[in-house]
Amino acid sequence: MSDTVYLNGEFLPADQAKISVLDRGFIFGDGVYEVIPAYSRRPFRLKEHLVRLQRSLDAIRIDNPMPEAEWTRLIQELIARHGSEDQSVYLQVTRGVAKRDHTFPKGIRPTVFMMSSPLTTPTKELVDNGVACVTGTDYRWLKCDIKSISLLGNCLLRQAAADADAAEIVLFRDGHLTEASASSIFIVRDGRLLAPPKDHLILPGITYDVVLELAAACGIPVELRPISESEVRSADEIWLSSSTREVLAVTKLDGKPVGSGRPGEVFRRVHQEFQAFKRKVMRQAA
Ligand SMILES: Cc1ncc(COP(=O)(O)O)c(C=O)c1O
Repeated sequence: MSDTVYLNGEFLPADQAKISVLDRGFIFGDGVYEVIPAYSRRPFRLKEHLVRLQRSLDAIRIDNPMPEAEWTRLIQELIARHGSEDQSVYLQVTRGVAKRDHTFPKGIRPTVFMMSSPLTTPTKELVDNGVACVTGTDYRWLKCDIKSISLLGNCLLRQAAADADAAEIVLFRDGHLTEASASSIFIVRDGRLLAPPKDHLILPGITYDVVLELAAACGIPVELRPISESEVRSADEIWLSSSTREVLAVTKLDGKPVGSGRPGEVFRRVHQEFQAFKRKVMRQAA
Protein backbone atom coordinates (compact mmCIF):
# COMPACT_ATOMS: atom_id res chain seq x y z
CA MET A 1 0.00 0.00 0.00
CA SER A 2 1.27 3.43 -0.92
CA ASP A 3 1.84 6.08 1.81
CA THR A 4 -0.64 8.88 2.30
CA VAL A 5 0.47 12.30 1.09
CA TYR A 6 -1.24 15.69 0.97
CA LEU A 7 -1.62 17.50 -2.33
CA ASN A 8 -3.63 20.69 -2.91
CA GLY A 9 -6.40 20.09 -0.40
CA GLU A 10 -6.56 16.30 -0.44
CA PHE A 11 -5.01 13.39 1.43
CA LEU A 12 -4.39 10.54 -1.01
CA PRO A 13 -2.05 7.60 -1.68
CA ALA A 14 1.35 8.78 -2.98
CA ASP A 15 0.98 6.80 -6.19
CA GLN A 16 -2.24 8.67 -7.00
CA ALA A 17 -0.85 12.15 -6.29
CA LYS A 18 -0.15 13.86 -9.61
CA ILE A 19 1.05 17.31 -10.60
CA SER A 20 1.31 19.00 -13.98
CA VAL A 21 4.57 18.83 -15.93
CA LEU A 22 4.21 22.61 -16.18
CA ASP A 23 4.42 23.07 -12.42
CA ARG A 24 7.08 25.74 -11.86
CA GLY A 25 8.56 23.59 -9.12
CA PHE A 26 9.32 20.97 -11.77
CA ILE A 27 10.34 23.41 -14.53
CA PHE A 28 12.32 26.01 -12.56
CA GLY A 29 12.72 24.68 -9.01
CA ASP A 30 10.53 27.68 -8.17
CA GLY A 31 9.40 26.88 -4.64
CA VAL A 32 10.36 26.50 -1.00
CA TYR A 33 10.15 23.72 1.55
CA GLU A 34 10.46 22.68 5.19
CA VAL A 35 11.44 19.48 6.99
CA ILE A 36 9.87 19.18 10.44
CA PRO A 37 10.78 16.39 12.85
CA ALA A 38 7.96 14.91 14.95
CA TYR A 39 8.75 12.99 18.13
CA SER A 40 6.02 10.78 19.61
CA ARG A 41 3.81 12.21 16.85
CA ARG A 42 4.33 15.79 18.06
CA PRO A 43 5.95 18.22 15.64
CA PHE A 44 9.07 19.77 17.19
CA ARG A 45 9.45 23.58 16.99
CA LEU A 46 6.52 23.71 14.55
CA LYS A 47 5.90 27.42 15.04
CA GLU A 48 9.53 28.21 14.22
CA HIS A 49 9.39 26.05 11.07
CA LEU A 50 6.23 27.85 9.95
CA VAL A 51 7.84 31.24 10.60
CA ARG A 52 10.81 30.19 8.45
CA LEU A 53 8.41 28.96 5.75
CA GLN A 54 6.72 32.38 5.75
CA ARG A 55 10.13 34.05 5.47
CA SER A 56 11.10 31.85 2.50
CA LEU A 57 7.73 32.48 0.79
CA ASP A 58 8.11 36.25 1.31
CA ALA A 59 11.63 36.12 -0.13
CA ILE A 60 10.39 34.59 -3.39
CA ARG A 61 7.09 36.50 -3.45
CA ILE A 62 4.60 33.64 -3.10
CA ASP A 63 1.53 34.37 -0.96
CA ASN A 64 1.26 31.87 1.87
CA PRO A 65 -1.56 29.58 0.72
CA MET A 66 -2.72 28.90 4.30
CA PRO A 67 -2.82 30.52 7.72
CA GLU A 68 -0.64 29.02 10.46
CA ALA A 69 -3.61 27.27 12.12
CA GLU A 70 -4.45 25.42 8.89
CA TRP A 71 -0.83 24.34 8.35
CA THR A 72 -0.80 23.05 11.92
CA ARG A 73 -4.04 21.13 11.46
CA LEU A 74 -2.91 19.52 8.20
CA ILE A 75 0.52 18.59 9.53
CA GLN A 76 -1.09 16.96 12.56
CA GLU A 77 -3.50 15.07 10.34
CA LEU A 78 -0.67 13.87 8.09
CA ILE A 79 1.24 12.64 11.15
CA ALA A 80 -1.88 10.88 12.46
CA ARG A 81 -2.24 9.03 9.13
CA HIS A 82 1.26 7.53 9.41
CA GLY A 83 2.39 4.56 11.46
CA SER A 84 5.64 5.76 13.04
CA GLU A 85 5.88 7.49 16.39
CA ASP A 86 8.80 9.60 15.18
CA GLN A 87 8.41 11.13 11.74
CA SER A 88 10.02 13.55 9.36
CA VAL A 89 7.41 15.75 7.72
CA TYR A 90 8.35 17.27 4.37
CA LEU A 91 6.30 20.09 2.91
CA GLN A 92 6.78 22.16 -0.18
CA VAL A 93 5.04 25.09 -1.82
CA THR A 94 5.71 25.92 -5.46
CA ARG A 95 4.52 28.94 -7.41
CA GLY A 96 2.05 26.73 -9.30
CA VAL A 97 1.28 25.73 -12.87
CA ALA A 98 1.68 28.09 -15.83
CA LYS A 99 3.01 28.25 -19.41
CA ARG A 100 6.81 28.22 -19.19
CA ASP A 101 8.04 31.79 -18.78
CA HIS A 102 10.66 33.04 -16.34
CA THR A 103 8.61 35.99 -15.07
CA PHE A 104 6.02 35.31 -12.39
CA PRO A 105 2.62 34.48 -13.88
CA LYS A 106 -0.34 36.34 -12.39
CA GLY A 107 -3.35 34.75 -10.72
CA ILE A 108 -2.07 31.17 -10.32
CA ARG A 109 -2.55 28.99 -7.25
CA PRO A 110 0.53 27.69 -5.42
CA THR A 111 0.97 23.91 -5.37
CA VAL A 112 1.08 22.53 -1.81
CA PHE A 113 2.55 19.09 -1.22
CA MET A 114 3.31 17.24 2.03
CA MET A 115 4.61 13.78 2.86
CA SER A 116 5.90 12.07 5.96
CA SER A 117 8.47 9.34 6.51
CA PRO A 118 9.84 7.57 9.58
CA LEU A 119 12.39 9.79 11.35
CA THR A 120 15.71 8.02 11.77
CA THR A 121 17.85 9.93 14.23
CA PRO A 122 21.57 9.04 14.55
CA THR A 123 22.35 5.66 16.09
CA LYS A 124 24.13 5.40 19.45
CA GLU A 125 27.22 4.29 17.56
CA LEU A 126 27.26 7.54 15.54
CA VAL A 127 26.63 9.67 18.61
CA ASP A 128 29.39 7.86 20.56
CA ASN A 129 31.98 7.87 17.78
CA GLY A 130 31.13 10.89 15.65
CA VAL A 131 31.28 11.08 11.88
CA ALA A 132 33.88 11.79 9.21
CA CYS A 133 33.45 14.84 6.97
CA VAL A 134 35.30 16.32 4.04
CA THR A 135 35.61 19.99 3.11
CA GLY A 136 34.75 21.84 -0.07
CA THR A 137 34.16 25.21 -1.67
CA ASP A 138 30.71 26.67 -1.18
CA TYR A 139 29.77 27.46 -4.76
CA ARG A 140 26.02 27.78 -4.13
CA TRP A 141 24.12 31.00 -4.79
CA LEU A 142 24.03 34.07 -2.53
CA LYS A 143 20.55 33.49 -1.09
CA CYS A 144 21.24 30.40 1.02
CA ASP A 145 18.96 31.79 3.74
CA ILE A 146 15.95 30.86 1.57
CA LYS A 147 14.91 27.23 2.01
CA SER A 148 14.59 26.81 -1.75
CA ILE A 149 13.69 23.53 -3.42
CA SER A 150 16.41 24.34 -6.02
CA LEU A 151 18.98 22.13 -4.34
CA LEU A 152 21.26 21.14 -7.22
CA GLY A 153 24.30 22.79 -5.61
CA ASN A 154 23.56 21.04 -2.30
CA CYS A 155 23.02 17.70 -4.07
CA LEU A 156 26.32 17.95 -5.95
CA LEU A 157 28.14 18.80 -2.74
CA ARG A 158 26.43 16.04 -0.77
CA GLN A 159 27.34 13.52 -3.47
CA ALA A 160 30.98 14.65 -3.25
CA ALA A 161 30.79 13.78 0.48
CA ALA A 162 29.16 10.41 -0.25
CA ASP A 163 31.82 9.64 -2.90
CA ALA A 164 34.44 10.18 -0.19
CA ASP A 165 32.50 7.97 2.30
CA ALA A 166 31.90 11.05 4.43
CA ALA A 167 28.74 12.02 6.30
CA GLU A 168 28.84 15.64 5.17
CA ILE A 169 30.88 18.26 3.37
CA VAL A 170 31.91 21.29 5.45
CA LEU A 171 31.86 24.36 3.22
CA PHE A 172 34.04 27.45 3.00
CA ARG A 173 33.35 30.59 1.02
CA ASP A 174 36.12 33.18 0.64
CA GLY A 175 38.12 31.55 3.42
CA HIS A 176 35.25 31.39 5.92
CA LEU A 177 32.99 28.63 7.22
CA THR A 178 29.40 28.72 5.96
CA GLU A 179 27.59 25.42 6.67
CA ALA A 180 27.38 21.89 5.21
CA SER A 181 25.29 20.56 2.30
CA ALA A 182 22.30 19.83 4.57
CA SER A 183 23.41 20.81 8.09
CA SER A 184 24.62 23.74 10.16
CA ILE A 185 28.20 23.65 11.49
CA PHE A 186 29.59 24.70 14.90
CA ILE A 187 33.12 24.59 16.28
CA VAL A 188 34.51 24.63 19.82
CA ARG A 189 37.79 26.39 20.62
CA ASP A 190 39.12 26.83 24.13
CA GLY A 191 35.72 25.95 25.64
CA ARG A 192 33.84 28.52 23.51
CA LEU A 193 31.15 27.50 21.05
CA LEU A 194 31.46 29.37 17.76
CA ALA A 195 29.00 29.50 14.86
CA PRO A 196 28.76 31.63 11.72
CA PRO A 197 26.16 34.40 12.10
CA LYS A 198 22.81 34.06 10.36
CA ASP A 199 23.11 35.90 7.07
CA HIS A 200 22.44 35.28 3.37
CA LEU A 201 25.21 32.64 3.21
CA ILE A 202 23.59 30.06 5.50
CA LEU A 203 20.17 28.58 6.16
CA PRO A 204 18.83 29.82 9.52
CA GLY A 205 18.66 26.32 11.03
CA ILE A 206 15.93 25.57 13.53
CA THR A 207 18.28 23.11 15.26
CA TYR A 208 21.07 25.74 15.14
CA ASP A 209 18.85 27.93 17.37
CA VAL A 210 18.09 25.03 19.73
CA VAL A 211 21.80 24.16 20.06
CA LEU A 212 22.75 27.78 20.79
CA GLU A 213 19.96 28.20 23.34
CA LEU A 214 20.92 24.99 25.15
CA ALA A 215 24.63 25.85 25.16
CA ALA A 216 23.94 29.32 26.56
CA ALA A 217 21.63 27.82 29.20
CA CYS A 218 24.49 25.48 30.27
CA GLY A 219 26.81 28.46 30.70
CA ILE A 220 28.95 27.63 27.65
CA PRO A 221 30.26 30.88 26.13
CA VAL A 222 28.77 31.33 22.67
CA GLU A 223 30.14 33.54 19.89
CA LEU A 224 28.42 34.20 16.56
CA ARG A 225 31.00 35.57 14.15
CA PRO A 226 32.77 34.79 10.89
CA ILE A 227 35.00 31.73 11.40
CA SER A 228 38.12 31.30 9.31
CA GLU A 229 39.03 28.05 7.60
CA SER A 230 42.17 27.76 9.74
CA GLU A 231 40.06 28.08 12.92
CA VAL A 232 37.93 25.17 11.72
CA ARG A 233 40.94 23.04 10.83
CA SER A 234 42.49 23.59 14.26
CA ALA A 235 39.22 23.40 16.27
CA ASP A 236 38.99 21.29 19.43
CA GLU A 237 35.56 20.10 18.35
CA ILE A 238 33.35 20.36 15.26
CA TRP A 239 29.63 19.59 15.32
CA LEU A 240 26.90 19.44 12.74
CA SER A 241 23.21 19.94 13.38
CA SER A 242 19.95 19.48 11.50
CA SER A 243 16.35 18.50 12.14
CA THR A 244 17.02 14.86 11.27
CA ARG A 245 20.60 14.51 12.56
CA GLU A 246 19.98 16.56 15.72
CA VAL A 247 23.52 17.34 16.90
CA LEU A 248 26.46 15.13 15.95
CA ALA A 249 30.21 15.35 16.51
CA VAL A 250 32.53 15.49 13.50
CA THR A 251 35.57 13.52 14.60
CA LYS A 252 37.49 13.41 11.34
CA LEU A 253 37.91 16.21 8.79
CA ASP A 254 39.58 15.45 5.47
CA GLY A 255 41.00 12.27 7.00
CA LYS A 256 42.59 14.04 10.02
CA PRO A 257 41.31 13.70 13.59
CA VAL A 258 39.39 16.67 15.01
CA GLY A 259 40.82 17.47 18.47
CA SER A 260 41.30 14.16 20.27
CA GLY A 261 39.52 12.31 17.44
CA ARG A 262 36.63 11.49 19.79
CA PRO A 263 33.40 13.46 20.45
CA GLY A 264 34.44 16.25 22.82
CA GLU A 265 33.33 17.11 26.31
CA VAL A 266 31.33 20.18 25.21
CA PHE A 267 29.55 18.10 22.56
CA ARG A 268 28.62 15.39 25.04
CA ARG A 269 27.12 17.98 27.39
CA VAL A 270 25.04 19.71 24.70
CA HIS A 271 23.96 16.40 23.14
CA GLN A 272 22.69 15.25 26.53
CA GLU A 273 20.87 18.56 27.03
CA PHE A 274 19.33 18.22 23.57
CA GLN A 275 17.92 14.78 24.40
CA ALA A 276 16.59 16.01 27.75
CA PHE A 277 15.08 19.08 26.10
CA LYS A 278 13.30 16.96 23.50
CA ARG A 279 11.80 14.78 26.20
CA LYS A 280 10.71 17.82 28.22
CA VAL A 281 9.06 19.55 25.25
CA MET A 282 7.25 16.37 24.28
CA ARG A 283 5.95 15.85 27.82
CA GLN A 284 4.69 19.45 27.89
CA ALA A 285 2.93 18.97 24.56
CA ALA A 286 1.22 15.76 25.76
C1 LIG B 1 21.78 23.77 3.84
C2 LIG B 1 21.22 23.44 5.19
N1 LIG B 1 21.74 24.04 6.27
C3 LIG B 1 21.27 23.78 7.52
C4 LIG B 1 20.25 22.86 7.71
C5 LIG B 1 19.74 22.59 9.10
O1 LIG B 1 18.49 23.21 9.29
P1 LIG B 1 17.43 22.63 10.34
O2 LIG B 1 18.13 22.61 11.66
O3 LIG B 1 16.32 23.63 10.31
O4 LIG B 1 17.05 21.28 9.89
C6 LIG B 1 19.68 22.22 6.62
C7 LIG B 1 18.61 21.25 6.80
O5 LIG B 1 18.14 20.60 5.91
C8 LIG B 1 20.18 22.52 5.32
O6 LIG B 1 19.66 21.91 4.24
